[in-house]
Amino acid sequence: MKIRNFLWICFVGIISCTKPIEKNSLDSFKGVLNNRFYIGTALSNEQLIREDNKILREAANQFNAIVPENCMKSALIHPQKEVYNFTLADRFIEYGLQHDMWMTGHTLIWHSQTPDWFFKDSNGNEVKRDELIHRMKDHITTLVHRYKDFIKGWDVVNEAIEDDGSYRETKFYKIIGPEYINLAFKFAREADPKAELYYNDYSMTLPEKRAGVIRMIRALQRQGIRVDGIGMQGHVNLTSPSIEAFENSIVAYADLGVKVMITEFDISVLPFPNEHLGADINTTVSYKEQLNPYKEKLPDTIQQKFNDRCFDFFKLFLKYDKAITRVTVWGVSDEYSWKNDWPITGRTDYPLLIGRNHKPKEILKQLTTYVANK
Ligand code: G3I
Repeated sequence: MKIRNFLWICFVGIISCTKPIEKNSLDSFKGVLNNRFYIGTALSNEQLIREDNKILREAANQFNAIVPENCMKSALIHPQKEVYNFTLADRFIEYGLQHDMWMTGHTLIWHSQTPDWFFKDSNGNEVKRDELIHRMKDHITTLVHRYKDFIKGWDVVNEAIEDDGSYRETKFYKIIGPEYINLAFKFAREADPKAELYYNDYSMTLPEKRAGVIRMIRALQRQGIRVDGIGMQGHVNLTSPSIEAFENSIVAYADLGVKVMITEFDISVLPFPNEHLGADINTTVSYKEQLNPYKEKLPDTIQQKFNDRCFDFFKLFLKYDKAITRVTVWGVSDEYSWKNDWPITGRTDYPLLIGRNHKPKEILKQLTTYVANK
């Protein structure tokens, strides 16, 4: 309760006296896309630790929504059964309040980055179903309750469906059964009835996966569980998936009567070892020089390909702005992107809207002209 008071005091103080004057004009993504959908970014732990640096200021100039890239994942925020570590998450909230941003929480239940203690009893044996449900409830309720009024939407369940459309056999699934998904949404709804609750996943354009996600959402809806939105993680590259495939999925998810969000958007310009890799962090590939071709600089031809591809995606997002409520890029600027280290560590990628010079890329100008002439 103390921290909620603290956050409210920060909120009131910020609103009443120190709210900075920020650009919302046509020289920013948030200015250009104003009234169409939120344009967001993910804040890394490093950025939250090094307060008030240049990059955080640029993030506030360019974006009107934020999501924590890592600091609300259970391994970080709830490392032991009785221990919560809210330091970076509180800092995230403070920053969002200071700049009047839409804040999304990421992520309540995910098979990855869940600490081992979650699934073990005091003897080190696998925890029983009722106990795991109890732990899930405690985790979800604590987080959602603490950030009620500040976090407006939660990625409640992340990546529960495999590429073939079946349920991912996570520990939550194996111990509780598919009902863990219903329960996660139920606990989150009870903790904050006003927050929007989302399902978030990658490779959402694959037909089998899309069918699986739709089956799951329909089943939840039939049981009276309200899902407010679907997050299509947008980890794409210069050629895959096609715009058409992406469009088909936006339409299919919107047809469920839910909001659609493009979450985790980034366009890798680097060669992928195989055509489709998704975003599974367990997929790793060994480093080879030829797979890291732009160490010093991105050639103009590739830069142009990036701009064209990015423009095509934004035209698509604008076409569906009735269904799409937010587009979030997965990182503030290129040097912070996870793509520099996935699926191969130590590469130099250029996947985001802001470059290593901390300036918006050419796409901002293209979008400005496009939106003005529409
Ligand atoms: O914080 C430690 C640091 O202390 C240590 O020195 C360093 C050494 O490797 O690791 C640091 O932790 C890393 C963390 O990112 C913070 O940088 C982890 O190893 C690394 O696994 C972790 O990767 C994150 C990954 O999720 C796993 O949580 C990426 O930054 C993050 O971009 C990525 O995001 C996910 C979404 O949440 C869900 N969708 C897919 C997406 C990409 O995998």
